[in-house]
Amino acid sequence: VYEVHEIVVQRVGHVPVAKGDFTHLSKKVQRFVAHCVQQFKPRGIYICDGSQEEADEIIHKLLERGTLTRLTKYKNNYLCRTDPEDVARVESKTFICTQNKYDTVPHVREGVQGTLGRWMSPENMKKELDARFPSCMAGRMMYVIPFSMGPVGSPLSKIGVQVTDSNYVLLCMRIMTRVSPKVWEVLGDGDFVKCIHSMGCPRPVQRRVKNHWPCNPEKVLITHFPEERKIKSFGSGYGGNSLLGKKCFALRIASVIARDEGWMAEHMLIMSITTPKKKEYFVAAAFPSACGKTNLAMLNPGVPGYKIQCVGDDIAWMRFDDSGVLRGINPEAGFFGVAPGTNMKTNPNAMLTFQENSIFTNVAETADGGYYWEGLEDEVPKGIGITTWLGQPWHIGHGGKSAHPNSRFTAPASQCPIIHPKWEDPKGVPVCAIIFGGRRPTGVPLVIEAKSWAHGVMIGACVKSEATAAAEHTGKNIMHDPMAMRPFMGYNFGHYLQHWLDLEKPGRKMPKIFHVNWFRVDENGKFLWPGFGENIRVLDWILRRCDGDDSIWQDSPIGLLPKKGTINMSGLSDVREEDLFSLPTHYWLDDTRESRRFLEDQVGSDTPAIITQLLDQQEAAFQKL
Ligand code: GDP
Ligand code: PGA
Ligand code: MN
Ligand code: MN
Repeated sequence: VYEVHEIVVQRVGHVPVAKGDFTHLSKKVQRFVAHCVQQFKPRGIYICDGSQEEADEIIHKLLERGTLTRLTKYKNNYLCRTDPEDVARVESKTFICTQNKYDTVPHVREGVQGTLGRWMSPENMKKELDARFPSCMAGRMMYVIPFSMGPVGSPLSKIGVQVTDSNYVLLCMRIMTRVSPKVWEVLGDGDFVKCIHSMGCPRPVQRRVKNHWPCNPEKVLITHFPEERKIKSFGSGYGGNSLLGKKCFALRIASVIARDEGWMAEHMLIMSITTPKKKEYFVAAAFPSACGKTNLAMLNPGVPGYKIQCVGDDIAWMRFDDSGVLRGINPEAGFFGVAPGTNMKTNPNAMLTFQENSIFTNVAETADGGYYWEGLEDEVPKGIGITTWLGQPWHIGHGGKSAHPNSRFTAPASQCPIIHPKWEDPKGVPVCAIIFGGRRPTGVPLVIEAKSWAHGVMIGACVKSEATAAAEHTGKNIMHDPMAMRPFMGYNFGHYLQHWLDLEKPGRKMPKIFHVNWFRVDENGKFLWPGFGENIRVLDWILRRCDGDDSIWQDSPIGLLPKKGTINMSGLSDVREEDLFSLPTHYWLDDTRESRRFLEDQVGSDTPAIITQLLDQQEAAFQKL
């Protein structure tokens, strides 16, 4: 028996619409899509609706092709191994284009290579783009993804439309952002952030495809046009380069919008802490990539009586409300977390979040269909066979690493057992403290409190950290990462500091600012602080300071430090408090001068005067000691 359907195929130019109804898109979206079709020459257009059926269809295709492997130990969990050359953000290929160079980068000292953002003129960038994008999707499907950063329809949320030729990217976008046809309704005829992504590997392919992961590492380019609210990303499928809602939109583009509109788009987690006295506080924390945001946001307290709930683990959009309270939302819908180091001891809440509906990228696999990475030694059957992220046989005790150090899980935030009931509240949550931090093996105490808002901005401007595997930097050298935003700044860093300073206005309840360091080591390179769940002890001190407890601090040249014995250390064996809090004068004299030099070199005349003055005062204070 045959059933005959009349199939009406829509076309845009000559290109068929494989799914969705092009005529239902707004005129602005139609123009954007048609322009992409004309330029990139895909074989078809697939207008996504974000449904489970859609995901199932794509997953099925990727399993057949071999891009994904089902992790049979769980429900709906998949492993993806990328081309081994496409595993991290590529900061050296990430640009911002504005007419005026100094809108994007500060006036660096003459002869100095700027490190705070990369600018290219729109004219020169056009040449780069013209050498990449024409026909870049030939032979491939172009997915059109409507997404909302923040709950769909909420007044703080922003809408983007991403086109991509990667269905892995589509699957991850569904987890990390809110993809839904409702976005089209909310958008109406309004403007949206234009997000263009291509793996840069049209058919017939020019380059040998490894792991069924077509990409183009030689030609990677991630570029932003803040004035046009447009992003173009080429050659890489790695999350930070390809899930354009995340770093590109929610940080680089949004930081520009935030400056214009008087709010903040920051590389910060937001978490709630309810103390044994049943009082709830929200704090935001900015650490560079792979320095502990996801772990802190989901902390499992090492001291009884505290309750932690997670609002977000990577990005915060915050603004002062009418009563002067800073309120923050998490614009994302999922977690894109560092896998290595995650286990039931360090981060059980993350582990419970990704038991289903999650994608694991560049982790290893156990013979019984589970994920594996460094840190799970005690949580897999003894002697089990393991396949590394590179597809090699391996076992625990074998040399080398089984998972890439920047391997990641992508999991829906809604599955987190401690997700805050208000995590999607459009009003946001009231933030009482902002915490900076980084990996500082020497010199930097466990916690410092800023003496004022401006002093806190200075501390943020001087954030440094050991390099990690989140981007292409190699080795463990200490890098400046001011406000943990160096790779994510959308505009001139000096203007950004001034924007922060200008946020302080009469009638506003400015959050207190702190700096923490979980990563100080002893003479043998061993961490002095147990970290993870025990970090609640530091949060507890911070919250007592937010409540105005004046009996627990002492002054120091770098800020307020806990008075001896005021951080709860009970039950911790061999914590060397002296070493955790010592302020070696020579170290700090050098560090203060080095930071000032950094600002003079890198931010130059755009550095707000107060920041330099505060560093001068700090140096003078150490000289007096
Ligand atoms: P994020 O990239 O900033 O979100 O950082 P993650 O929370 O994913 O952590 C990055 C790496 O640092 C992981 O391997 C963690 O296991 C490790 N880490 C996180 N918090 C701590 C801590 O308090 N102490 C130590 N020693 N390591 C930590
Ligand atoms: P992370 O997010 O901060 O959790 O590492 C990804 C990144 O910053 O590249
Ligand atoms: Mn991040
Ligand atoms: Mn993280």
